[in-house]
Amino acid sequence: MSLTIAERIKDIPFSSIRKIFEEAGWMEKKGVKVTHMEIGRPDFDTPEHIKEAANLALQQGHVHYTSNSGIQELRAAIAGKLQRENNIEVDPDEGVVVTIGCKEAIVDILLAYVNPGDEVLIPDPSWLEYQHNVKLVGGIPVLVPLHEDKDFLLDPEEVASRITSKTKMLILCSPHNPTGAVLPESYLKELAALAIKHDLLVLSDEIYEKIIYDEAKHISIASLPGMFERTVTVNGFSKAYAMDGWRLGYVAGPPSLIQPILKVHQYNTTSATSFAQYGAVAAYNGSQEPVEDMVKEFDRRRRLLVEALNQIPGVHCVLPKGAFYVFPSFKGFGRSSKDLATYLLREARIACVPGSAFGEVGEGHIRMAFSTDYNDIEAAIGRLNESLMQIKG
Ligand SMILES: Cc1ncc(COP(=O)(O)O)c(C=O)c1O
Repeated sequence: MSLTIAERIKDIPFSSIRKIFEEAGWMEKKGVKVTHMEIGRPDFDTPEHIKEAANLALQQGHVHYTSNSGIQELRAAIAGKLQRENNIEVDPDEGVVVTIGCKEAIVDILLAYVNPGDEVLIPDPSWLEYQHNVKLVGGIPVLVPLHEDKDFLLDPEEVASRITSKTKMLILCSPHNPTGAVLPESYLKELAALAIKHDLLVLSDEIYEKIIYDEAKHISIASLPGMFERTVTVNGFSKAYAMDGWRLGYVAGPPSLIQPILKVHQYNTTSATSFAQYGAVAAYNGSQEPVEDMVKEFDRRRRLLVEALNQIPGVHCVLPKGAFYVFPSFKGFGRSSKDLATYLLREARIACVPGSAFGEVGEGHIRMAFSTDYNDIEAAIGRLNESLMQIKG
């Protein structure tokens, strides 16, 4: 039958986040006010100077396909940023591809490097796109559990114990979605040693690097000795510059690793949106004050939320060091995280994501994004408390 779907997508489900989105949408249509803590994007507007640069580009007629790898000004801005902030030296002409968000970069990388049957190490819980995209290209996701009592840090020993002759790639995400964990240098060094010993390619997703708190420091694994040649660094503009709707990201690394990715990108999308790329140049080359202000506000909300959650009997919440999510455990309430998320939506009018949406190890947890107004979070905590008391009876 010619209308049957391809085998490769048969095992891939729609995101379980959809159910919460849809139900929250119906409630709002009926006039119920829902606090949105499910959305993984900043609630701020894109800074004005970035919008102006894109507007100007439109007025100047930058409305056509660009070079496949992105406009030269943006590739140069990315290379400059990577050198200044990440201690990574990339060739702006051959070592950078501007993509339609990090999402496209990740799919392009997997298509360029993962053969059917290759194993890819992925932390569990993690952003589910990693797992499903690995499956889409015929690879095998090998999940490495993260533990709450170890602050959700990826344990190099756990990684080592899952490496086989088929392991091709290690995916890292620091700061991490959904836990907010930031990998310290000592962990990165051990992971780097493993990658070198077993000849692994590392995909380092650094989209949350600028959203970081307290003494935590973001280190790019590509900057460690012997790692540049085996790392593809993925980053973008969605989170730090509140540009998620602009759909702009990139992948950077040595030309030998980047050029095969360019080949996929070239046939896939031709180039990222022309005028949006001019906005991204302003994001990297212009004032970083809006980013700093946004992170300060996230920090205020983070403290409010974590302190309040830890005061609720039966709830435990690790203080995230980065990103804008908390990943508290509700294991004491004896409900699956899907049931609990549905209950919290209906009873407390809080939309959040069941931890199981990020992998099996996420079961018993809920992801709450604090990319929502401070006062709304404060009010939501009161309702959360009351609705959980009803469960405890
Ligand atoms: C870990 C991680 N990487 C990448 C992205 C998406 O990035 P982009 O909007 O650039 O596709 C997200 C979005 O939620 C994310 O959580």
